[in-house]
Amino acid sequence: MDPARPRHGDDDPSPAPQPHRRAHSTSSDLERYAGLFARRTQVMRSSAMRDLMEITARPEVISLAGGLPDTSTFPRDSFAAQMTRIAQQSAAKALQYGPTEGFAETKDVIREVMAAEGMSPEPEDVIVTTGGQQAIDLICKALIDPGDVIVAEGPTYPGAVPVFCSYEAETRQVEMDADGMRIDLLEELLAELDREGRRPKFIYSVPTFQNPGGVTMALARRRRLVEIAREREILVVEDNPYGLLRYEGSALPPLYRLDGGDYVLYVGTLSKILSPGIRVGWACAPPPVMRKIVLGKQAADLCTSTLSQYFVREYFAEGRWLDYVGKLARIYRSRRDAMLDALARHFPAQATWSEPEGGLFVWATLPDYIDTTDLLAKALRENVAFVPGQAAFVEPRGTHSMRLNFSAQNEDEIREGIRRIGAVIAEQVDLYETITGEHRAAKPAPDGEPAPGHVLPFQRPASPPDPER
Ligand SMILES: Cc1ncc(COP(=O)(O)O)c(C=O)c1O
Repeated sequence: MDPARPRHGDDDPSPAPQPHRRAHSTSSDLERYAGLFARRTQVMRSSAMRDLMEITARPEVISLAGGLPDTSTFPRDSFAAQMTRIAQQSAAKALQYGPTEGFAETKDVIREVMAAEGMSPEPEDVIVTTGGQQAIDLICKALIDPGDVIVAEGPTYPGAVPVFCSYEAETRQVEMDADGMRIDLLEELLAELDREGRRPKFIYSVPTFQNPGGVTMALARRRRLVEIAREREILVVEDNPYGLLRYEGSALPPLYRLDGGDYVLYVGTLSKILSPGIRVGWACAPPPVMRKIVLGKQAADLCTSTLSQYFVREYFAEGRWLDYVGKLARIYRSRRDAMLDALARHFPAQATWSEPEGGLFVWATLPDYIDTTDLLAKALRENVAFVPGQAAFVEPRGTHSMRLNFSAQNEDEIREGIRRIGAVIAEQVDLYETITGEHRAAKPAPDGEPAPGHVLPFQRPASPPDPER
């Protein structure tokens, strides 16, 4: 021990120095830092799902909020065997930095996954990213200056909203129906932007089993969207985490396949077909765009976790990944059915919801006097959670809608969760009817037709048929 240093033991009467305690966010504290923040922090938005995660992690809460796949279904023995093989055969490499673009073996895996949906990118058009989320971020980093226009679906992936905001983009959202983004409205918006002398940098779309809408873009619309991109030389960013999680119907070609990778950039992930914890996703882009994405990734995190990429390599080498996707699809199909059944039982007659053929989400819309952000506070008191619709819009829209996830809970929990949300909604409906004297809860006609005049955002029009479908 250094004899010159004062000791603070039993025989030392001088008081021990107290660790400096940090005052928590008082207003003077905030003022102290306020002048230091970058301008973009003023428009940054918090992710609704991230905010909810702390509450929904409580065991008594039935969370229909997150987009969590059911990782408990992954066989533990294979996981142990794969990690042991890495430890025994490749420890030094798996614990080392790797190339920014990702390992060639990881790209082989990615190309195998994309081939399952009929796509065949060149290896140099692929970069391995830290989740699909980072791919969205890097694409924005490469393309977006403050004030640039991004066109997205309305509602859009709630996790993309904070990204678009943090790059100070102006996001314009195009309505959807049961066949995905309304391409007629997209064309109107593009014409309007033309008149303003503006050209969007890209159109962001989740065309298959959309998060949060649960709807899938029809084939004719896909074709037209790709045509528009070519005609106008606008990029499309296709984000496709759910394409392989189909529970019924037949597969549709991804936009990337229809376009061949000239104007459509692609974002993929292993989060929903293997594990979100490994944080392995990817982007595909033509070489000039890819070069900028790589520079952005070098600055962001040097490379995607090498250990995760080794795990991916081991896992796919077993050649059973499609069986596991099939197992997940069977589990999620019956959970989806449980949710749709419970919605029909417990939600009021004026509510509408999407009926997804795959993916993880249902989007429900309630009578317009119910604000789902307020409703969430009440639902949390009943220990049940969902994502309020506003999280899926940049503008203050979506306030009567909610996103409901059916992958993270078992059928009983889903039924109970929907029952509890239904009970909270019923209180609001009763209150509204008592105050206004109106009775808007008219039951639907016996043939299932909705009450007249009610807008059904994602319902297929009965007639006339949509020429785009
Ligand atoms: C549409 C969409 N894009 C991207 C992501 C991000 O996924 P990850 O970063 O886990 O790959 C998600 C996750 O839910 C998503 O639904």
